[in-house]
Amino acid sequence: MDINNKRLLLTGACGGIGAEIAAVLADASASLILVGRNESKLRALQLSLNQPDSHHLIVADLSTPQGIETIHQTCQQWKREGTPIHGLINNAGSNCFASLSQREPASISNEIHLNLTVPVLLCQQALNWLSRPALILNIGSTFSAIGYPGYTTYCASKAGLQRFSEALHRELDGTGVQVLYLAPRATDTTLNSAAVTELNQQLGNQIDDPRWVAEQVMQCLIKETQVRWLGWPEKLWVRVNQIFPAPVASAIRKQSKTIRQYLIKAEVI
Ligand SMILES: NC(=O)c1ccc[n+]([C@@H]2O[C@H](COP(=O)([O-])OP(=O)(O)OC[C@H]3O[C@@H](n4cnc5c(N)ncnc54)[C@H](OP(=O)(O)O)[C@@H]3O)[C@@H](O)[C@H]2O)c1
Repeated sequence: MDINNKRLLLTGACGGIGAEIAAVLADASASLILVGRNESKLRALQLSLNQPDSHHLIVADLSTPQGIETIHQTCQQWKREGTPIHGLINNAGSNCFASLSQREPASISNEIHLNLTVPVLLCQQALNWLSRPALILNIGSTFSAIGYPGYTTYCASKAGLQRFSEALHRELDGTGVQVLYLAPRATDTTLNSAAVTELNQQLGNQIDDPRWVAEQVMQCLIKETQVRWLGWPEKLWVRVNQIFPAPVASAIRKQSKTIRQYLIKAEVI
């Protein structure tokens, strides 16, 4: 898709990766609909972007039915007024680094809701208001394809999002709507606590710059890449884990003592 002058709706716009996606797409002359919970943060982001007046804001808490409905009503109204929306980027997400046994049930439900149910609901609504041709890009994670200790329910939610994206892409074949999936590895944002960042450093895991991730998001949209895994060697491990998981399990087993130490640290905090 040629991004120039296209109107794209971005959730989680004020987050570490979201704000960079907004900056990169605005620099490429896209017009953005920025979605977030905090109006003043959204306004500050809008003012920081190239051509601020070409962007719109929707204040919505996606974890509530009202938040989802607000997006739907606003986009339907634009459609009625003849304002096309060419794409949806489902980027909002959250996680919690903790053992399953230490999690509160509500924290598990909220995480799965935001990471999986919310993008599914937004995709369903978007089929009503997106113009054609259109792109939907779901932001996943390396952990959608590699089960990792401390992230059981995050892995589950992103694995669900990956399979959903694949199924919907196939379901919509020939309709003019494509569903893309991009999976970052560890990225330098506040999604990761100080303990998680330290753990990644201890394990020698690469941590990507959110601007670089945002540039890959834009490339994905331009090239209409259906599935993209970011980072080497993670993208290799993703493939190996699907076909022959034993080496991946063995590599993670070697890390388990360190991971356990950091899980205890995270739980004490
Ligand atoms: N950082 C990483 O290491 C990493 C790695 C792989 C994949 N990812 C994925 O990349 C995406 C962006 O993550 P990030 O690193 O940019 O995280 P982040 O900095 O924590 O930003 C997360 C965004 O999600 C939004 N959000 C959280 N709860 C919400 C809710 N109830 N309603 C509406 N929005 C809500 C936040 O909105 P507010 O601004 O309103 O708080 C924030 O903008 C996520 O899907 C994440 O799973 C991240």
